[in-house]
Parts: sequence; C-alpha cells; structure tokens
Amino acid sequence: MSLINVMPFSIGLLYDVQKRISYLILPFSFYTTYYIQSNMDITTQILEEAKSTLSCAKGSHDWEHTERVYQLCMHIGRKERADMEIVQLAALLHDIGRRHEDESKGKICHAEKGAELASAILKKYHIDDDKIKQITHCIECHRFRNNKIPQSKEAKVLFDADKLDSIGAVGIGRAFLFAGEVGAKLHNHNIKDIENTEPYSEDDTAYREFMVKLRKIKDKMLTDEGKRIAEARHRFMVEFFDRLNKEVDGEL
Ligand SMILES: [Fe+2]
Ligand SMILES: [Fe+2]
Repeated sequence: MSLINVMPFSIGLLYDVQKRISYLILPFSFYTTYYIQSNMDITTQILEEAKSTLSCAKGSHDWEHTERVYQLCMHIGRKERADMEIVQLAALLHDIGRRHEDESKGKICHAEKGAELASAILKKYHIDDDKIKQITHCIECHRFRNNKIPQSKEAKVLFDADKLDSIGAVGIGRAFLFAGEVGAKLHNHNIKDIENTEPYSEDDTAYREFMVKLRKIKDKMLTDEGKRIAEARHRFMVEFFDRLNKEVDGEL
C-alpha cells in the first residue's frame, strides 16, 4: 500500500468529521476545511520532496525504508502518545541527507546533514520555528551518535522505528540486499573471528551483519513499544540464522 494512501488517514478522517459538522456550524466550516486541506497538501508536498532525494538510493536504504519507518513511527508514536505531527514529518524527512553521506564516503553524517536540509524544506512551507526545532532534533539524533542523543519522546519514537527496520524479517531481507550490493558471499558462519572481518568485503555477509550489529539492537530501544517489537523481531532473527547455519552444514 502506498504511503500517500495511508498517510493522510487521520487528516482524512478529520476532514470527513469536519464535513459532517459543517452542516451544523456553517460559518466556521470554510476555515476548518481550508486549514485541514492545506495541512494535508503541505504534508504531501514534503513527502514528495523527501522521496525525490532518495530516488537514486540503494535498495537497503531506499524510499521503501522511509515508508516502513513511517508506518512503525505511526504505530509506536500513538502508543507512546507522542506529538504525531512532529513524528510524521520527522519520519518522512529522516534520511534525506543519505546521498551526502554516500557521496562523501561517510565523511558527512546523513543525520546531521538531513536535519539541516529538513530545516530549509520546513521553513519553505512556513512551519512554526518551534516545530522545526522539534523535527530537526528527531532527525539529527536518529543515529544516536556523536553525542546526538534522542531527548524528546518523538525523537525516541523515530530512533526505535529506524532501528526496528534493520531487524526481524525485514532486517534479514535488508542484510542480504546489502551483502549483494557489496558483492559479499551468501554465508560464512564457519569463519573463526567473524566480528573482525572486513566490512565491504566478500565476508560482509548478512550473517556478519547479524553478529556485528543486528543482534545488539534490541537492547538499544528507547520506548516500551519499541522494546516489545524488538524482542519478537530478535527472536525471529536468532531462529533464522540458527536454521541457516544448520542447513549450510547439511544438518537440516
Ligand atoms: Fe538514517
Ligand atoms: Fe533510516
């Protein structure tokens, strides 16, 4: 299902409710309709801008990743009673700095660059300065690196959603996709010290990704709902790689 179809659900619902109310309170209805409609248009335009920045992104970090993070943010954000407008815009814009990090071969941090780019986009649509500050805080901290620590509830929601997309069934799929992108082998579990193998080499397999990074993610979650989902996704990954090892060894 496309994000455009899902995204304005709450706004669409509001619009429908407003239409019914407008029969009763006609003098206020034009303003309310205008307000809701224009907010919906702005979000759609911001979505399109974010999407265009990721048009050349590789499969493991493409627009579909943003769509999945968005869906997780909506789910976790509601459970955590976060400000959904902040969460929604932060999710859409969180990886728009990705191209700069790729082109600079990692010298530029996509989270920091993304916050800077997002601020310019949001200003263009006349979003309040305070909201821009809250949204850019979420984007800047979504990697939780270089002393950029998620402080607000909304930043914690985005952090958890972004990390959750690298574990579970989706995480396994992304890990194999990434291994394919760097020309790694299908599997290499018999290597003695897998954690010390070279990244971006033929040993940068999905299994290496699991051993080095993915199996540690569940302990980094910041929200209760994020922790709950991470536990289930983690169990699935452990089961999957255990079976993969056995199949490769001819035991299953
Ligand atoms: Fe990111
Ligand atoms: Fe991301």
